[in-house]
Amino acid sequence: MVDVKNIVVVGSGLMGNGIAQVSLMAGYNVTLVDIKDEFLDKAFTNIEKGLKKSESKGQLGEGVTADALMAKLKRTLDLASAVKDADYTIEAVVENMKVKKEVFKKMAENSPAHCILATNTSTMSITEIAKDCGRPEDVIGMHFFNPVPLMRCIEIIAGEKSSDEAMETGMAVAGSLPCLRGKRYVAKVLKDRPGFIVNRLNAPAQIYLNWIFDKAAEQGIPWEQIDADASVMPMGPCELTDFTGIDTAIHVENYYTETLSPDFKPGKVLTEMYKSGNLGAKKGKGFYDWSAGRPKIDKSKKAGLLKLENMMAILLNEGCRILEEGIASGYKIIDDANMAGMNSPGPFGAGKNNYEAWSKLLEDLVDETGKEYLRPCELMKSGGFIKMRK
Ligand code: NAI
Repeated sequence: MVDVKNIVVVGSGLMGNGIAQVSLMAGYNVTLVDIKDEFLDKAFTNIEKGLKKSESKGQLGEGVTADALMAKLKRTLDLASAVKDADYTIEAVVENMKVKKEVFKKMAENSPAHCILATNTSTMSITEIAKDCGRPEDVIGMHFFNPVPLMRCIEIIAGEKSSDEAMETGMAVAGSLPCLRGKRYVAKVLKDRPGFIVNRLNAPAQIYLNWIFDKAAEQGIPWEQIDADASVMPMGPCELTDFTGIDTAIHVENYYTETLSPDFKPGKVLTEMYKSGNLGAKKGKGFYDWSAGRPKIDKSKKAGLLKLENMMAILLNEGCRILEEGIASGYKIIDDANMAGMNSPGPFGAGKNNYEAWSKLLEDLVDETGKEYLRPCELMKSGGFIKMRK
C-alpha cells in the first residue's frame, strides 16, 4: 500500500473544494489545481470558511487551527508540476470524457511511479478514463457524495485494470478522511458498472416515477396528491425532482437509457418540462411554482397512485442485480452504502422477509407499466441473496 502524504485535487468546483477540505482535515498536504485563478480564489475562500466553522465547533482536534491547515494548502494552474511529488491524486474536473482523459494522461506522465490516480466521476467508466493514460493499473474510482464534508459515503471502484495496491490505497485514504456528520463509510465496488452501488440502487425508481407522473397528468391528478402518497418521505418525488432539477433528472435518465435499458427513457411530463425550460426550483417553475421560495404543498389528500411498497420492491430487485453482477460482495455493503450516501435505509433489511410478496408486486407492475426492466431477477425471486450478507 502506498504511504500517502501529498494529495493533489484537480478541479476546484463544488466537489473539489469539499474533497480538499476533508483531505486537509485528515492531515495531508494538499495542492489544488484548476484552469483559472478566479476558480481557485473562490475555492480557497470556501475551504477557509468551512475549516473556520469546524474550528469554532471544536471539530479540528486538539490544538489544530484552520490557519495551520490552510498553510498546508497549495494552489497552481500547472497540473504537470503539481503532481511531481504527489502520492495520490483525486480528479474532480467537469464530467467530460475528453477533458478527463487529458487530465489522466498528464497526471500519469508527470507523477511518481508509486502515485495512485483516482477519479470522482459519477457517470463515466473508470476503465475508459484510464485506458489511454499509460498506467491504467494505478487508476481507480473514488466517488464522493455532495456535500463532501457532510455525506458519509465514499465508493472506491475498481476499473478493469486497477491493481490491488491501488484499491487498497484508495480504501485507506478514503477511510482516513473525516466526515462532519457521523462515521465515514467506504464501500468497495468490485466492478466498473454504471451508477456503481448507491446511484445504481436508486436509479430504477425513476422508471416507476416517470410512469406515475405521466399517469397523473393523463388523469388530471394534482402533483400535491402524488407527493401526499409519499408523505412519509421528507420530500415527495415531484418536489424532490424540482429541487434537484428537471435537467439533472433528464441527463441521468438518458445516461441509464444508454447504459442499462431503454426503459429509463424520460417520460412525457419530464420531457415537456425540460423542453419548455421549466427546470424546477432554480428556474422558479417545474412541477410547482418556486418563485416565492419552497412551495407550500397541501398533502391532505392522497392520489393512491404511488405505492411505497413498489418502490421498496424496485430497490430490492436492483440490489439483487448488483449482487448478481458481482459489483458488491454482499448485501450489507449495499444497505450500509445507501444509508451513508442517501441517508435512507437500503432494501435488504425489510426485503429478507418480503421478497416473495415483493416479487409478485413487481410481476404485476411489469404487466401494468410494460416496463420489462422492473421484472424481478432470479436472486430476488429465490431469496438467494439472504445467503450473501457480507
Ligand atoms: P464543478 O463544475 O463545480 O467543478 C469542476 C471544476 O473543474 C471547475 O472549477 C473547472 O474550472 C475545473 N476544470 C475543468 N477542466 C479542468 C482541467 N482541465 N484541469 C483542472 N480543472 C479543470 O463540478 P462538480 O460538481 O464539482 O463535479 C466535478 C466532478 O465530480 C464531475 O466528474 C462530477 O460528475 C463529479 N461528481 C459530482 C457530484 C455532484 O453532486 N455535483 C457528486 C459526485 C461526483
